[in-house]
Amino acid sequence: MRTAIYPGSFDPPTRGHEDLVRRSLNLADEVIVAVARNGTKQPLFSVAAGPELLAASFPGEPRLRVESFEGLLVDFARARNATLVVRGLRAIADFEYELQMALMNRQLHPEIETVFLMPALDLTYLSSSLVREVARLGGDVSALVSPPVAAALKAKLAG
Ligand code: PNS
Repeated sequence: MRTAIYPGSFDPPTRGHEDLVRRSLNLADEVIVAVARNGTKQPLFSVAAGPELLAASFPGEPRLRVESFEGLLVDFARARNATLVVRGLRAIADFEYELQMALMNRQLHPEIETVFLMPALDLTYLSSSLVREVARLGGDVSALVSPPVAAALKAKLAG
């Protein structure tokens, strides 16, 4: 039984995240979308809201779980007997940050491998922070996020 963890902020989850979940399900028996808050970012959605919205795009998928965690990712991975950590690599700009994290996680827990997956070409320009900004400024994000996420963004920003 191979368990992969796909960690991130998912604030909000985008079509790019969904694409990565689909690809991760092809690699592992079970995928845990693990939502953590990056301390340096100001969150829009609560820790619980992001995972619920992402799960809504995979109705009836028994091999997908969403959870939130606090503390170190490697400790969460160890507690779930996960052997893979999946991260998306969109552009060269992502690489340095991702390499640093992957090597630090390896230092902390050598048995866990980080694998980088490329999203579909038409999703490589997507990021949660851009989606947040465009939505905040009244732009149309309906092609970039699922309908429940678009609705939640609208409600959040209206309130
Ligand atoms: O989507 P993000 O914001 O790039 O995700 C970053 C995340 C949540 C994967 C990273 O900040 C993380 O793993 N946080 C948990 C705390 C931790 O383990 N920090 C050390 C990372 S080397």
